[in-house]
Amino acid sequence: MPGAKNSVLKLMAAALMVPGTTILRNVPDIADVAIMSELLRRLGCEVVLDLADGVLLITVPGQLEHRADYDLVRRLRASIAVLGPLMARLGEADIAVPGGDAIGSRGLDIHLRGLELMGAVVTSAGGYLHAAAPAGLRGIDYELDFPSVGATETLVTAAVGARGLTRLENCAREPEVADLCTMLAAMGVPITGIGTDTLTIEGDHALAPVEHVVVPDRIVTGTWAFAAAMTGGEVIIDGARPELLSLPCATLCEAGAHIETTPTGMRVRGPARPRAVDAVTLPFPGFPTDLQPHIIALDAIAEGSALVTENLFEARFRFVAELARLGANVKVDGHHCLITGVPRLSGAPVEGTDIRAAAALVLAGLVADGVTHVLHVHHIDRGYADFAGALRGLGADVERVTVDIADVVG
Ligand code: UD1
Repeated sequence: MPGAKNSVLKLMAAALMVPGTTILRNVPDIADVAIMSELLRRLGCEVVLDLADGVLLITVPGQLEHRADYDLVRRLRASIAVLGPLMARLGEADIAVPGGDAIGSRGLDIHLRGLELMGAVVTSAGGYLHAAAPAGLRGIDYELDFPSVGATETLVTAAVGARGLTRLENCAREPEVADLCTMLAAMGVPITGIGTDTLTIEGDHALAPVEHVVVPDRIVTGTWAFAAAMTGGEVIIDGARPELLSLPCATLCEAGAHIETTPTGMRVRGPARPRAVDAVTLPFPGFPTDLQPHIIALDAIAEGSALVTENLFEARFRFVAELARLGANVKVDGHHCLITGVPRLSGAPVEGTDIRAAAALVLAGLVADGVTHVLHVHHIDRGYADFAGALRGLGADVERVTVDIADVVG
């Protein structure tokens, strides 16, 4: 299982904090890694990507730039991950206001409030955030309003360059946040509470570049597990860490799938037809919002009705209208979605609105009669390496084609 998109991008950014060569292993061959590599190059780094072996070498110079331009940041919301490291290293950062998935407003208030408490002055003009701490950053005691993944990562990395101790409460506990903290600890940062909601970081210590293996991608793992559960197929997922997706696995078992851990990962066998299952998305260890489209797609062909509640990204239900085009019986009310399963979906042209939605629509296409065209699959490239090829390897009839959209939608 390749490394997690949501980890590797932050690890790449964290490399900025120390001159020298950081080596990352188990790096996924995805578009977002290429964009982040370009961003690091613009900041002055040399980045060498050996995709065949999943190895990335980042050589960080003594002198770094501090500006992340709009042309890259708009393509990759995770560019905000350079904010904390640049503040730690330079005490200054200019970052274009991020773009990324169209799945909600995705505020930055928790990131910025924490940085201000550390002594940074943050202003915005012309589409850029400018943060500067002329007198240096200082350690803080801060309770995040919400366990935001991005804000936890910004504040942990900024704290590495702050004088004294930082204690952060109500932190995100996602495995990718823990992976970042583990790499920081190996770099020489005294950090405690890794994997818990309270992190303490002692700033201003000497750091050294490290070699680090990226944690396996639990969302890609979950995608293959849902594919098996929806199609009645069987998938062996080598390198998966089932303990990182306990709740999705339990939910799939409730739907009738059979899941067992193997010495090298896990094996998932789908039922003839799944039972409908409810889900409520929540920060880790809750049900991941990044698998919400997948569970709605599964419920769409399941026996019975289910309620899926989205608590993180309000616009994520945009994909439901596309699923309805395949014949799904889905109704959205606020942040709830009621799905009543139908025995078969029916192929149609649909639009992938973000990375996870597009992947889930492809899974829905596998169980739809006739041909399903999923448009805008460039979203999928952001987080899945050769998605169509991997599905074909599992026996699915999936092809990536370049089409004139007018020919597909008539
Ligand atoms: C990360 C993941 C994304 C995942 C999400 C939740 C990356 C690159 N992306 O996104 O795939 O779906 O975690 O697990 O790692 N919020 C604020 N103010 C802030 C910060 C966040 O209001 O300062 C809100 C957001 O608008 C959103 C919610 O908090 O509604 C969750 O956001 P957050 O946990 O920060 O997600 P990301 O880091 O953007």
